Amino acid sequence: MNKDWNLPNLKMAQKRSIDETLIERSLFEIPEQYINIGQDKTYYLRTYGCQANERDSETIKGIFEKMSFTQCDEMNEADVIIFNTCAIRENAENKVFGEIGNVKVIKQTRPDVVLMVGGCMTQEENVVNRLLKTYHQVDVIFGTHNIHRLPQLLIQAYFNKERVVEVFSKEGEVYENLPVSRNNKSKAWVNIMYGCDKFCTYCIVPYTRGKERSRLKEDILSEVDDLVNQGFKEVTLLGQNVNAYGKDLNLDFDFADLLESVALKDIPRVRFMTSHPWDFTDKLIGVIAKMPNVMPFIHLPLQSGNNEILKIMGRRYTKEDYLTIFDKLRSQVPNIALSTDIIVGFPNESEAQFQETLELIDHCQFDNVYSFIYSAREKTPAASMVDNVSLSEKNDRLQRLNKRIGVHALMHNQAMVGKTVSVLVDGPSKKNSDVYSGYTETNKLVNFKPTTDCIGEIVLVEIISAKTWTLQGKQV
Ligand code: 5AD
Ligand code: SF4
Repeated sequence: MNKDWNLPNLKMAQKRSIDETLIERSLFEIPEQYINIGQDKTYYLRTYGCQANERDSETIKGIFEKMSFTQCDEMNEADVIIFNTCAIRENAENKVFGEIGNVKVIKQTRPDVVLMVGGCMTQEENVVNRLLKTYHQVDVIFGTHNIHRLPQLLIQAYFNKERVVEVFSKEGEVYENLPVSRNNKSKAWVNIMYGCDKFCTYCIVPYTRGKERSRLKEDILSEVDDLVNQGFKEVTLLGQNVNAYGKDLNLDFDFADLLESVALKDIPRVRFMTSHPWDFTDKLIGVIAKMPNVMPFIHLPLQSGNNEILKIMGRRYTKEDYLTIFDKLRSQVPNIALSTDIIVGFPNESEAQFQETLELIDHCQFDNVYSFIYSAREKTPAASMVDNVSLSEKNDRLQRLNKRIGVHALMHNQAMVGKTVSVLVDGPSKKNSDVYSGYTETNKLVNFKPTTDCIGEIVLVEIISAKTWTLQGKQV
C-alpha cells in the first residue's frame, strides 16, 4: 500500500458529531499551471445513479473544460476516461465493474489512457480493495468529497505514472465557485445541500455522501439569478433530503422559505428532490400550493406500506403519517401528481406485510413508482439482518407490484387525453428525430410533431392519446 493514499473508512464516515456542524466554506480555484494541460486531449465521462451524481458530473465536466480538455462521446478514443459511480444497489455496482473491465482492453493498445473512478462506490472499503487488487487498469480512485481535487489527482497519475487514491471519508468544506458545464440548456440542477443524516437502515448514502451540509441561501439564490439571466426555464433544487435544508445553519430560514424565495425569481418552473416524509411541513405544502411556478409534482418516497417494516427501516413515520401528508398534498395542490419509491423483500418482509404495501399503492394510485428489490449494503444496519426473502420471492413481489404501478400510471395518463397542457421541450425524441419530446408540469413525458422551432421553450400541446409511460400530443 502506498503511504500517500487516502483510503475510505466507513466507520469514520458513519460518525456525526456536534462540533463538526460548523462547515468551512471555500472557493474553488484552478491552479494556473493546469489550465492548458488538456489542449488537444479528450475526456469521456460516464455517470451512474441519481441526480446528485448527474450534477456532480456537470462539475467534473466543468473542471475538465477549465483544463482545456474536449469531451468525447467514444470511450475508445478518449485520453482520459472517468466513471462517476453509484453504490445504491449491488446491480448498479456490477455494471460499473463490467465497464471497468472493458477499459482493460483499451489500455492494452493505448497504455497512456488514464482511467479515473469516483463517486459513491469508491467511498466503500470493499470496492476500493477490489479495485486495488484486481483492476490494475484504474489509475485514479477519488471520492465524492474529492471532486475539487481532480486536477491535482490527474496530474499526479499522469506525470508520476503512479496510482493515486484519494477518498476522504469525512466531508470537508462546502465548495463554492466550482465550474459547471450543464448538460441541458433550459433545465438546471441546483444543489441546495449535500449529505444525509437520516440513516435509514438499508441505505449507504449517509456513508458515501457525509453529513448534511446546506449551502448558504445567498449562494443558492445568486446561482438561480445567473440561470434566470442565461434564459433557463426550469430549476430543480437538489439534496438527498431537501426538507432538512438549513437545519445545520441554525438560521430562521427553512426549506419552505428557500423554495418560496426561489419561486419569486423570474423562472417559469421550480422543482425539488428528494423529500423525506419526516420533515414535510404544512408550511412547505402551503408554499407548493401558493406559488404557481412550483410544479405540481412531488416525489415522496414511501418504501413500505407496513408499519413494522417502516420501523426496522428506520424511516421514523407510520403509513398513517405518510397518508396525512399525501392527503394534504392532494387536497391543497390542484392537479398534483405524486410518485414514490418502494423496496420489496426487505429482511423478514412477510407476504402479509407486502400485501399492505400493495393496498397502500392501490389506495394512493401514484402517477409513478420506482420499485426496487432490497440489496444489502456494506456496513449498513440492515446488512446484518438475515436477508431471508428468497430471490424468486423478491422477483415475484416486484412483478406483482409493477403490474399495479402500470395500471395506475396508465389511468392518470388516459385522464389527460383531450386536455391542452404546457410542455417544456427537450428536443428530438430518442426513437424518432421528427418527433420532439418534453415534460408537462406534472412531469409526464409527451411526444409531439413540432410546428415551430421550440427546443428549450414551453409550448402548448393537446394530448391525443396515452400509453402507460408516454403521452402523444399535437402542438397548438
Ligand atoms: N436496496 C434497495 N433499494 C434501495 N434504495 C436505497 N437503498 C436501497 C437498498 N439497499 C432505494 C430507496 C431509495 C431509492 C433512491 O433507492 O427506495 O428511495
Ligand atoms: Fe447512488 Fe445514492 Fe450515491 Fe446517488 S447518492 S449516486 S443514488 S449511492
